[in-house]
Amino acid sequence: MRHYISDLSQHVGQKIELKGWAYNSRSSGKVKFLELRDGTGMVSCVYYRGTEPGQCNEESWNEFDKMTQESSVKVVGIVKAHPKHAGVFELGAESLQILSRAEEYPISHKEHGTDFLMDNRHLWLRSKRQVAILHVRHEIVKAIRDFFDGRGFTLTDAPIFTPSACEGTSNLFETQYFDEKAYLSQSGQLYMEATAAALGKVYCFGPTFRAEKSKTRRHLIEFWMVEPEVAFNDLYDNMELAEQFIEYIVQRVLKNQPDALKALERDTTKLAPIKGAFPRLHYDEAAIMIKKENPEFIVGDDFGAPDETIISSKFEKPVFVHHFPSAIKAFYMKEDPKEPGKSMSCDLLATEGYGEIIGGGQREESLETIKRKIKEHDLKEKDFEWFMDLRRYGSFPHAGFGLGVERAVAWICGLPHIRETIPFPRLYGRHYP
Ligand code: 4AD
Ligand code: MG
Repeated sequence: MRHYISDLSQHVGQKIELKGWAYNSRSSGKVKFLELRDGTGMVSCVYYRGTEPGQCNEESWNEFDKMTQESSVKVVGIVKAHPKHAGVFELGAESLQILSRAEEYPISHKEHGTDFLMDNRHLWLRSKRQVAILHVRHEIVKAIRDFFDGRGFTLTDAPIFTPSACEGTSNLFETQYFDEKAYLSQSGQLYMEATAAALGKVYCFGPTFRAEKSKTRRHLIEFWMVEPEVAFNDLYDNMELAEQFIEYIVQRVLKNQPDALKALERDTTKLAPIKGAFPRLHYDEAAIMIKKENPEFIVGDDFGAPDETIISSKFEKPVFVHHFPSAIKAFYMKEDPKEPGKSMSCDLLATEGYGEIIGGGQREESLETIKRKIKEHDLKEKDFEWFMDLRRYGSFPHAGFGLGVERAVAWICGLPHIRETIPFPRLYGRHYP
């Protein structure tokens, strides 16, 4: 039976074997310490030379000094409860075998510059902090799936190669598709509109691509997005679904990942209130709030990151902004018949200045209007014939949204930059390693 550090509590008093990597080691004459990590956790292995149970033999005692940081090792020892800290265990080590001695490890336990760490991202991932982030990311992904699966949604993934733009043509990644051109998907939404007509409540969850030629703390070139779409939902149903969804994810992470959040030194009192109804602001109200603090803001424009911060800093819960001007939103957004010029769109701005994590809204269902919008946005009608069929054959009100997974991870973990939210980030100017 394989043993892991995460289940030491079940083996107190027993002799077990662990395999992992040497995170840190030190020796002080009579006793040597190895901090062993195996991916499930970290444990202190304590080496005393001797022949009693829980003491180590001569050979292992000498082997210890040949061990370098990140060498892979096998340790046999007796599991002991920590004398002072409840829930903490250590190993009274009896032996040490170096499976593969590591060359001098480039990442030491001191501070390193960001570029250096990014060049060594494949190794940097082994650090405590990166491991904690990936645990939270995994929890968020599972929570996303559980939320929708538990509410009768069907996962209907969208293609990555697409014939046309969904979110405007300015950041499309063009690629060759045999003898034709294709684009990497910016969003699975248009396809979800089709599957929603087949299955009612659907979502897709996959990678999306935007050729954003800018270096910001919130933009990735390749990011993961979850996109629910619901037949017969309107803008207000959509906001309700989004707020229940965000509450579910945040509360799941708080409940299931306390150790990871602690390792990240996350102030969880900021996450605890993320429950219940979120404040909602009409674009016009939000614009007035922004204008007061940023006189340069032009009413009618989209919000910049500092503008979003002005709004979100006023609330302890995420805030919806709805009814953005149609002119600054995508072609598929429904214009509110009661408010010409305004779209039935909604963005959700996260707390603590994190800004937009969700974008979505109610979709235009009229064939004539969608045809006109496609023209106005300089898109090719023939690429969207299939999409217009959804308006020809039983058109229906529907709404949905997209959550950027990495934006959610950055916010929930309290990270200053999106680059640490995904194992191998693709950034403007970087696709190595
Ligand atoms: O607001 P966006 O562009 O909306 C859509 O793509 C819709 N088609 C979604 C839908 O209604 N089904 O993107 C949605 C979310 C943003 O709120 C943000 O969280 C994330 O995707 N996002 C990015 N995340 C990281 N890097 C980027 N470059 C991102 N661009 C958008
Ligand atoms: Mg958006």
